[in-house]
Amino acid sequence: MKRGKRLALLWRAAIAFALAGCDRTPGDVREWTPADHDQPGQPGAQVSARPAGDGADQGLVDLAWQRNCFTCHGSKGRGDGPQGPMVRAPDLTDPAWQDRVTDSYIAETIRKGRNQMPAFDLPDQVVSGLVQRVRASRAR
Ligand code: HEC
Repeated sequence: MKRGKRLALLWRAAIAFALAGCDRTPGDVREWTPADHDQPGQPGAQVSARPAGDGADQGLVDLAWQRNCFTCHGSKGRGDGPQGPMVRAPDLTDPAWQDRVTDSYIAETIRKGRNQMPAFDLPDQVVSGLVQRVRASRAR
């Protein structure tokens, strides 16, 4: 009940931020290529509604990723989103990079942005959910 209400608020916030995020991204003028559509991976892995860590709903985190991160980083974070090559989005699944950075560094990057990457003013739970999502996409 209480938790449900909080989640509903978070959803509203995420959707608002998601829309703001769309307005902020630079114009996507690149032509579509087949690679844009090539997003394999475990089917169903993205639709889980289980809570992720600190209480942010996994569906909410996935929605936040789709709206705010996908255009550059792609569905798995490999940097293969539609704008990935244009901004040179790095491969976040790279185990060497994953080993080098801390969770708080990743959270800070999301909040403050870095070079071509814009800053994201998202709720704490969503940010930590996104950090966990990045960690979960680590390549073996
Ligand atoms: C407009 C394209 C764009 C969007 C949207 C975007 N990023 Fe990035 N991201 C980049 C680029 C480019 C870099 C490389 C920045 C650099 O180091 O110069 C980057 C770097 C990163 C890094 C690694 C930072 C480092 O120094 O190693 C993380 C983690 C990251 N992004 C997560 C996210 C998350 C999570 C989102 C969504 C909330 C997101 N990004 C949205 C373009 C983007």
